[in-house]
Amino acid sequence: MKKRKTISQLFDKSKMLLSENSSFATREAYKSLRTNVMFSLPGSDSKCIGVVSANRGEGKSTVAINLGISFAQNKKKVIIVDCDMRLPTIASKIGINQKPGLSNYLAGNEDIQGEIIQSVPEYGIDVLTAGDVPPDPTMLLGSQQMDSLVTLLKEYYDYVILDFPPVNIVTDAVILSHTVDGYLIVIRHNLTEFKMVRETFRQMDFSDAKVLGVVYNGKGGHSKYYRRNYKSHYYYNEYYKK
Ligand SMILES: Nc1ncnc2c1ncn2[C@@H]1O[C@H](COP(=O)(O)OP(=O)(O)O)[C@@H](O)[C@H]1O
Ligand SMILES: [Mg+2]
Repeated sequence: MKKRKTISQLFDKSKMLLSENSSFATREAYKSLRTNVMFSLPGSDSKCIGVVSANRGEGKSTVAINLGISFAQNKKKVIIVDCDMRLPTIASKIGINQKPGLSNYLAGNEDIQGEIIQSVPEYGIDVLTAGDVPPDPTMLLGSQQMDSLVTLLKEYYDYVILDFPPVNIVTDAVILSHTVDGYLIVIRHNLTEFKMVRETFRQMDFSDAKVLGVVYNGKGGHSKYYRRNYKSHYYYNEYYKK
């Protein structure tokens, strides 16, 4: 008999987030992404991972959160930092307060010991949201303060996951290439064009950024219905090593 969904599952805005309600394929894909990332960054010390893509809407924030959840399921201490201070989405995707956050801390108005880091017990992760939209996000991310913040977070967390704005639009992601241990490049099925990906790799090479691999996001379903149904939560991500 068909297993019916509950009303709360049907109206769950966070259905793109990894949980036991996610499809088997999704859960397996994130497990394999997690394993690949762990093997690409060997050693017992903490790691800082940057999630990037060429443009908006390709799934960076979704992948950043779900990779974080996947690490948390594996008993790792994880923090997700929303570095997309221009158009932040992490707070709304998870359903927590957007402010204060990273920009407020970097501008010197907030103490890291205060309420700035939010725990999300439901997913087992901590989150540092983007905060108020600052006039010059690139300058804040490129500051000494940001470097020190990542160093500080790595003392406590096993994985510090940074969610960035699109690489082909602003330089915010690569400005931290000396601090980020490895970047994941997200490519969206039926959306990202080849020349866009080439440009992203060019930007990464230019900044000597270490690329761990590519997450191929959204190639879901074997039927046209699934492929067309953009909002369907039947999807999976595949990870290819570079
Ligand atoms: N694999 C997927 N299948 C269906 N929708 C997806 C998938 N990945 C992301 N989305 C949706 O696409 C939109 C853009 O994703 P998001 O993670 O915010 O992208 P980005 O951070 O790259 O701008 C969001 O509404 C998200 O829920
Ligand atoms: Mg995003």
